[in-house]
Amino acid sequence: MGKDKDLNLFKLNEVILPKEECKKRAYFESYEELYRQSLEDKEGFWAKIASELHWFRKWDKVLEWKYPYAKWFVGGKTNLCYNCLDRNLEKGLRNKVALLYVNEREEERKITYGELYEHVGRFAQALRDLGVEKGDRVLIYMPNTPEAVIAMLACARIGAIHSVVFAGFSRDALKTRIEDAKPKVVITATHTIRRGKEIDLLNTARSAVEDYPFVKYLVVWNRKGNVELKENERGFYQLIKEQNRIAPAEVLDSEDPLFILYTSGTTGKPKGILHSVGGYMVGTYITTKWNFNVDTQNDVYWCTADVGWITGHSYIVYGPLLNGMTTILYEGAPNYPDPGIWWRLVQRYRVNIFYTAPTAIRMFMRYGEEYPKKYDLSSLKVLGSVGEPINPEAWEWYYRIIGGERCPIVDTWWQTETGMHILLTWAHTKAKPGYAGRPFFTVEVDVVDKNGNSLPPNHVGLLVIKAPWPSMLRNVWGNPERYEKYWNIVPGYYCPEDLASKDEEGFITILGRTDDVLNVAGHRIGTAEVESAIIEHPSVVESAVIGKPDDIKGQRIKAFVVLKLGVKPSGELKEEIRKTVREVLGPIAVPDEIEFVEKLPKTRSGKIMRRLLRAKELGMEVGDLSTLED
Ligand code: WT7
Repeated sequence: MGKDKDLNLFKLNEVILPKEECKKRAYFESYEELYRQSLEDKEGFWAKIASELHWFRKWDKVLEWKYPYAKWFVGGKTNLCYNCLDRNLEKGLRNKVALLYVNEREEERKITYGELYEHVGRFAQALRDLGVEKGDRVLIYMPNTPEAVIAMLACARIGAIHSVVFAGFSRDALKTRIEDAKPKVVITATHTIRRGKEIDLLNTARSAVEDYPFVKYLVVWNRKGNVELKENERGFYQLIKEQNRIAPAEVLDSEDPLFILYTSGTTGKPKGILHSVGGYMVGTYITTKWNFNVDTQNDVYWCTADVGWITGHSYIVYGPLLNGMTTILYEGAPNYPDPGIWWRLVQRYRVNIFYTAPTAIRMFMRYGEEYPKKYDLSSLKVLGSVGEPINPEAWEWYYRIIGGERCPIVDTWWQTETGMHILLTWAHTKAKPGYAGRPFFTVEVDVVDKNGNSLPPNHVGLLVIKAPWPSMLRNVWGNPERYEKYWNIVPGYYCPEDLASKDEEGFITILGRTDDVLNVAGHRIGTAEVESAIIEHPSVVESAVIGKPDDIKGQRIKAFVVLKLGVKPSGELKEEIRKTVREVLGPIAVPDEIEFVEKLPKTRSGKIMRRLLRAKELGMEVGDLSTLED
């Protein structure tokens, strides 16, 4: 795979930055040396980082590990919102822009740390007044706008557990999550903006909360200004305006829960990944600062994700705000009104650090060089990649056309569960297109067989993390068995269920998932979830969903569908099925291809053999069929 490129950001910085500036930023010169040192004293490493943040009470112990449950900064008391806002005001950042919101219509809003503090503090108090207490869940179903961030930080301030649901999900996906998290309050907006259209959120949210009496209030950001609220509904800005108190930041235990974020697994039911305050805070703080080589005072940073995903939580909201940075929030499509929109914004805001997904890069490649070439992208210094492997062709294009051959590409492998970057191609070390890179300090990663034996270089096996790290998930909400499974697939180790191999230099490449989870345009989608959405269509008996390679999206969804007796297959019916999936699960899960079949291949015990469908579809060897029924 790929060519090696020697990139030395330390040297590069001398060219683009004054020497003093360069010294300030170069936290370390040798990755290998520092990584080795970090393994010698892991707890010391994390204690040092944690001390850079504010604690109401210092921890007694850095780590308490009772397999498979870890506690970090045991006995420590802190507050993540305090560290993002109050602490930065104390540092004199009151008038610095915290959030720079811009959308596809190029409308912008700038919110300073001072303003954000005021809004969050008042909204947090308003939540309190609505009866939200420490440990209560608050579900946030919002567009990628400052209001979503305000809602998240307000929860963190009072110790309520937020659960953000991506606004691209629709009714049933939202209901499943509400049913599981049992929020007291749901926060939503009238709509989100995408591709020149207003996409309704309010009606979806209204119909989703209907069946759940435990949801006491629906808080609505009335973006249109003319929607009449119902009895159990409150206006987002109304609450802020009418509130004259700023909620104090609750003194929280390091291990108090911070948020639940749902992600897809093998079964139809998504897993509520639970993160806690202290460890998540320390992990996202340092990985944002170091991994993108940020000049936190001056750099403009843009992560193109949505706050509805973990990338948004860690690297739009918490990591950047903990570092007192200016973070951009973009609402809209990447190619609307034209494929130049993102590059126009990079030029307009003089973006220094740009973090996106390979699927976006591949899409821009297809539109051609003329779009980025129209704009001045010379402010860019570091380019990040996340969500799926970045193939060498996309890497090359990103490096050459977007980065002007000046910017290192930092690939980052991690998960909703890991909370922070685990593997990366460090900015100041050699680049290897096609590789997700080497571990963050103190984190021990390996490629093993199913018994946990380390495999020799260039052998495909299971990726594992061998010991706890601060921002690891603490549990699966309401389902500890599912949590423990992560640590039981390969006994003793955390198994992310990714296939990988490691080369002689310790660079790891990711080859795909081991479970029935798809990666469509960087989004993790469970085949079982799509299947159950498809069978909501009244004409469908059964369905099986597989992933097929796709040049842009990485994978695309193909569904095999068995119709009820007597129902005639047709193109319209395919459209109707797509519509059903869009309505119940959301646009990101709509099958690209539908094939009607008479029946599905099953094992004797009745399990659908997706492997067989996949092999047939892709023209591969079918393998062992001894358990197949027909
Ligand atoms: C899965 C996690 C982490 C934020 C976005 C996705 C795949 C993620 C990479 C990468 C190769 C990657 C893995 C992982 N993945 N980043 N840089 N290279 N694969 O978070 O939804 O929790 O999905 O995404 O398969 O297990 P997520």
